[in-house]
Amino acid sequence: MLPRYSLTTRLIHWITAVLIVASLVLGFWMTDRSAANLWDELTNTLYSWHKLIGFLILLITGLRILIKLRTTRPAYPSSVSQGQIQLAKSVQGALYLLLVLVPLFGWAGVTAFPALITVGGYHLPAMPGIPKDQALAKQIFEIHGYLALALLAVALAHIGAGLSHLWLKKDGVFERMWFKR
Ligand code: HEM
Repeated sequence: MLPRYSLTTRLIHWITAVLIVASLVLGFWMTDRSAANLWDELTNTLYSWHKLIGFLILLITGLRILIKLRTTRPAYPSSVSQGQIQLAKSVQGALYLLLVLVPLFGWAGVTAFPALITVGGYHLPAMPGIPKDQALAKQIFEIHGYLALALLAVALAHIGAGLSHLWLKKDGVFERMWFKR
């Protein structure tokens, strides 16, 4: 039987996946509404949840990187070539990088704006070293949007590869990150 990732790693993986989908949906939805100048209760709620969930992703990713540095990845089955393993590692490396950069830019943007208020009136801490400057915030948000699109593209490649292992290759690679054998 193939070795699997630890339960903690598997839980963090799937919780992050759900949170990323939520932050992407909220991000596109709320910016659509703000572009249409719809500044009502719903738009504010979408922004609040987006900021809170995005910040949570940053914290969880920090924890995840710490765990990754202290553990080794379970072995791939012998049917997976070295080239495929290298490709998978590059895609996963890009995912880690974007999972840090996307929320960092979002956090820097709301610090510069400033718009740190989230769900239930709870304020995020300000990012140290970022001045209050709305023009700067606009530029940071633009980069945040492009990085979020890059995250979506890389995540889709990662999902495609995972599903091809589950449905086409049926080689047990997907099950290393799943809960049932
Ligand atoms: C992995 C985490 C995150 C993802 C995937 C994500 C994704 C997105 C997306 C897709 C948009 C819409 C971009 C556009 O169409 O212009 C957006 C906008 C925005 N995000 Fe995030 N985001 C994340 C984290 C954060 C964090 C941590 C914050 C703040 C604490 C934040 C604050 C914002 C704000 C304020 C906007 C609106 C910018 C504007 O109105 O121009 N995001 N985000």
